[in-house]
Amino acid sequence: MKSEMYEVSERVHLLRRLRRLRRQESIRLLLRETRLSYSDFMYPIFVDHRLSAKEEIPSMPGIYRYPVSQLNEEIAEVLALKIPAVLLFGLPERKDAMGSEAYASDGVVQQAVRAIKKIAPQLTVATDVCLCQYTDHGHCGVIRNGAVDNDESVNLLSRIAVSHAEAGADIVGPSAMMDGQVAAIRRGLDEAGLDETLVMAYSAKFASGFYGPFREAAESTPLWGDRRSYQMDPPNGREALREIEMDLREGADIVMVKPALAYLDVIRDARTRFSLPLAAYNVSGEYSMIKAAGQKGWLDDKRITLEVLTAIKRAGANIIITYFAKDAAKWLQEANP
Ligand code: PBG
Repeated sequence: MKSEMYEVSERVHLLRRLRRLRRQESIRLLLRETRLSYSDFMYPIFVDHRLSAKEEIPSMPGIYRYPVSQLNEEIAEVLALKIPAVLLFGLPERKDAMGSEAYASDGVVQQAVRAIKKIAPQLTVATDVCLCQYTDHGHCGVIRNGAVDNDESVNLLSRIAVSHAEAGADIVGPSAMMDGQVAAIRRGLDEAGLDETLVMAYSAKFASGFYGPFREAAESTPLWGDRRSYQMDPPNGREALREIEMDLREGADIVMVKPALAYLDVIRDARTRFSLPLAAYNVSGEYSMIKAAGQKGWLDDKRITLEVLTAIKRAGANIIITYFAKDAAKWLQEANP
């Protein structure tokens, strides 16, 4: 047997033994190509204007909706784990046709940003800029003649972004998938003297079934129809690169691919093609699937979580937006104290 193996590689007179690279943990550690770290994570937080105490989201075990008054406990944990950034989502007191709480200076996100910046000025605060949680119809823009009106929606998105930045947000993240939203927001910010605020564009955001638990958490399921006229068609990888390229030209500082796991090819293509910072959103459904299977004892959720987050990084993401941020930061710390 051995002599046959030598024959296979007879031209170099050596037997290639890749298993030498995996003999022991210290060798594996030395040769590891991708190292997941707490510093890769951005942690999403839901703030709810109607609550006086935190409430767990049934479809996302371990994730809560917070009143602004209780954010300090969540922020203290994030700081203790050295997670560099949070991403805020708001649930308003009341929804209306124009999503007016989204751009109110005393809206729940604006209040939350001010509260967090007071407790933790060094923590990067990003905000989701969209209308769907705030409109009574649940779409990501304004409805005219039975359809989402792009340009009117873009004006409101710019107002939302400016109001978040005025409250102190470091990064605004437009997620409505309206054409021209990044340019309008960049212009709005600059005109308001907010030229230091970064724009993280949800550039390649697909119309995905993986947002299911989020829509329950944020009560943002559209009353009629779906989001396929503005979010991307899942089979389209090349079109995703066009979306990213357009957002770059419009002035995005960071671009995003969302969801992450079913779109690792898009993350890789974007990484290869563009040299800017790239975020990947490990969305609610990707979280809940693993949590649920873990609770049933069907798989080892800790192991799978770290495997999945490492895969997103290996594909090329620099920032991983994930509900697992606190869990993963803890586990990484336990493994490498
Ligand atoms: C708002 C928004 C959504 C998510 C982030 N921002 C929902 C949607 O587009 O329906 C999804 C996040 C997640 O599933 O974790 N437009």
